[in-house]
Amino acid sequence: MCYCRSRVSFKKIKIKIMLIKEFKRPISNKIVPIGPGLNKYQIILATETSCDETAAAVVLNGRKVLSNVVASQIDIHQKFGGVVPEVAARQHLESINIVIEEALKQAGITYKDVSAFSSTVGPGLVGALLVGLNAAKTLSLVHDKPFIGVNHLNAHVCANYLGSNFEPPFICLLVSGGHTQLIKVSSYSEQELLGETLDDAVGEAYDKVARLLGLPYPGGPFLDKLAHEGDKKRFKFTQAKVDKYDFSFSGLKTATLRVCQQFKEDELPKADVAASFQETVSETLIKKILIAAEENNVNKVAIAGGVAANSEIRRKLFDLANQGFEVNAPEFKYCTDNAAMVASTAYFLSNIMEELDIEVFSRVKSK
Ligand code: KG4
Ligand code: ZN
Repeated sequence: MCYCRSRVSFKKIKIKIMLIKEFKRPISNKIVPIGPGLNKYQIILATETSCDETAAAVVLNGRKVLSNVVASQIDIHQKFGGVVPEVAARQHLESINIVIEEALKQAGITYKDVSAFSSTVGPGLVGALLVGLNAAKTLSLVHDKPFIGVNHLNAHVCANYLGSNFEPPFICLLVSGGHTQLIKVSSYSEQELLGETLDDAVGEAYDKVARLLGLPYPGGPFLDKLAHEGDKKRFKFTQAKVDKYDFSFSGLKTATLRVCQQFKEDELPKADVAASFQETVSETLIKKILIAAEENNVNKVAIAGGVAANSEIRRKLFDLANQGFEVNAPEFKYCTDNAAMVASTAYFLSNIMEELDIEVFSRVKSK
């Protein structure tokens, strides 16, 4: 009996050693031809799991979206009033294979047709990022195709190429839940950070003010809707005085809180507060885009990120066309987190190296 047991565990150990050997095989950094200018069709399958959306997409030559599948976890996190990292990671694990299979099916292709695999490597929630990254790396190993790791912020900017003919050079305002940045896109492979928020990101400010107004998570879209019913001139908030390309929203958030505290809860003019807040934010953002465009002598402007879905910011941005600017904004479904933007970035920003040894990271290094 005792002898039998030891034989079983010996077998197990042998299998374990074999598996480790298999995955420790050296990774070659061979040159892989991916990217524009190669005169051929390139199909990239990408994953995105940096926060609370499990996404996979198939994109042809960086612009034509063959499929874009997003499984949102919003319902799950809503009851906590924000994203719970551990819950997000577990949910990604449950959904990732289904989402990838669905993306392939909707694109009408098989793994044989894929030129390269890609995924977001950061910034984001580490546990969540690891799920999408390991899924894409594994597919790349199994099918012996290149893997390209993508920065989530570069990807939001590249969403401007999806389904459009928009081309660099342009100034892009990236506004998401975690970031607010002004970026100069000089060419497909160059994205230069001009300035960013010194405190809260715009999406974060939207979500916090929305919570003050008793709106559900994530508050941005709800606040945007409510603002349409309000008087944007009722409350005058001052814009933060910071360096020309930088932003600050914590003062505005506090000023909004002070206004809310002046009213009894059932008398709070929620729509007026929302409209006044939205007016200040959108005016600030457009003013900064204009400064960056004029000082860098660029006549094309764009927005990106979840907050780029905001109706007032889009309206003011498209008004710039009357001042001679060429304007672009991604379709709504490509503003919030998705994998099509990751596939596009892998195509346009790929450094043509296999990157199977790349690791995830949670935060961007400051400039
Ligand atoms: O880019 P994204 O999907 O995730 C991050 O990378 O952070 O952005 C999510 C953010 C949330 O803060 C959400 O409230 C905000 O985008 N958002 C909006 C709107 N739609 C999404 N904020 C204002 N107006 C909207 N219509
Ligand atoms: Zn994002």
